[in-house]
Amino acid sequence: MRLGVLTGGGDCPGLNAVIRAIVHRAIKGQGWSVWGVRHGWRGLLQGEVEQLDLKAVAGILPRGGTILGTSRTNPYREPGGEARIKAELKSRGIEALIVIGGEDTLSVASKLNASGVALVGIPKTIDNDVNGTDYTFGFDTALSIATEAIDRLHTTAESHDRVMVVEVMGRHAGWIALESGIAGGADAILLPEFPVEIQEIYDAVRRRHDRGKNFSMVVVAEGAQLGDETGKPLQVQSERRDAFGHVRLGGIGVTLADRIENHTGFEARYSVLGHIQRGGSPTAFDRFLGTRFGVAAVDLVQRGEFGSMVAIRGNRIVEVPILEAVGTLKTVTPELYELAKVFFS
Ligand code: F6P
Repeated sequence: MRLGVLTGGGDCPGLNAVIRAIVHRAIKGQGWSVWGVRHGWRGLLQGEVEQLDLKAVAGILPRGGTILGTSRTNPYREPGGEARIKAELKSRGIEALIVIGGEDTLSVASKLNASGVALVGIPKTIDNDVNGTDYTFGFDTALSIATEAIDRLHTTAESHDRVMVVEVMGRHAGWIALESGIAGGADAILLPEFPVEIQEIYDAVRRRHDRGKNFSMVVVAEGAQLGDETGKPLQVQSERRDAFGHVRLGGIGVTLADRIENHTGFEARYSVLGHIQRGGSPTAFDRFLGTRFGVAAVDLVQRGEFGSMVAIRGNRIVEVPILEAVGTLKTVTPELYELAKVFFS
């Protein structure tokens, strides 16, 4: 059989570990040939497909990014997109596809599967917001990078008696902010899931300084819901949208730091971690999880369980319907936010 593999949406550490695992399992375990689609769904629309042999995946396990390239192309927004994808798969003789992506990419996969394309999914994203799985690979690496950054910013904040605002990724789900904030000992954490008025942050910083602490750490997710003194949303976003309709975020950390300094009189600085969280070598956890997902996905194809996605529940790899992973996102629970609040100033 000819097996296709595609990586879509934002890249994340661990993608290459998954690709490598798929290629090894499919070639050595099943005797299949593997075909890599370049740049996500765009590659199937434009005919960018190449064979992946064992040599093609040699040495890629620790490498960040994806050797296949990725894009945020949405084929359902392209004229005749679905039919073109089917025609491309047919002309290449690709009988089944493994789709590695987050909620957007998996939504497309789910529609294609409903229209007859044989495929299975693998959940990916640094945001850890895909439903149906306890973890997505990529998250652990982003979390480690954010935590290390917070530790580093802590020492300089302390030396200079400053409020340090750290902006991390997380559009609709604040998993990176929550976990890196707790791990890094943040005095306030702002998430997309739980709206906060900026006055609460001023008060928290003042309370801490009143207790004799001269510096503070504030961790904010890029998509945090923050209201100004009048309750008006302070979200900072550009007008640009991607093919899935998401606006480009970024900048809430700058706004927050400026306002904290102006309103409390305490010197403040900000640091936006941005794509640093998505780049570079994956942690051992993400390499291991990605490898387990890759092998399990080939086994799903072998069993003909199309329309399924591999997932991790507890420490077990299981399969769930892709439909379970799309439509809504896995967001931070009130219980975990309460846990974070135990340590707020
Ligand atoms: O989907 C993962 C993510 O890293 C989000 O946290 C972030 O909002 C977005 O991607 C950034 O996307 P881009 O790479 O298109 O700027």
